[in-house]
Amino acid sequence: MERTFLMLKPDAVQRGLVGQVIARFESKGFKLVGMKLMQVDRALAEEHYAEHRGKAFFEPTVNYIMSSPVVAMVWEGKNVVALAREMMGATNPANANPGSIRGAFGMDISRNVIHGSDSVTSADREISLYFKPNELVEYQKVGQEWLSE
Ligand code: PPS
Repeated sequence: MERTFLMLKPDAVQRGLVGQVIARFESKGFKLVGMKLMQVDRALAEEHYAEHRGKAFFEPTVNYIMSSPVVAMVWEGKNVVALAREMMGATNPANANPGSIRGAFGMDISRNVIHGSDSVTSADREISLYFKPNELVEYQKVGQEWLSE
């Protein structure tokens, strides 16, 4: 089953949006397999955003992600990488559909509430950056037969 890495950014934690955002993924039917509230240090932040090194927003983004706790999560489900990105909406909340998470809760690209892996390959990389294998939990969730055949 596919997995993705989602992170509720400092603005989501500070604004008290954690429950509302998680509720969307639970209601959709995805399965939470890992979650922790954590403070990101510089080494982890720079590794996470390594592909953006050299861009103007790299340093502000790294500083921002270290500025306050985040909620790091791993979610599992059919096509979860792409569907979570759809649920999140465009990177810039100003362009995001109002029904999406960023469209509903954000206004500015530098404070866009949530990060989600953009591919299965990125998901594998980001999950292993933030979680040790024994921090991911294998379990049966009730009601799966009501979500798909
Ligand atoms: S891009 O434009 O294709 O490089 O953007 P993307 O790969 O979707 O994600 C860029 C991440 O950096 C954060 N960020 C910004 N991006 C673009 N422009 C500005 N000014 C900017 N400021 C911050 C943006 O929120 C993306 O973070 P994640 O955590 O990946 O969503």
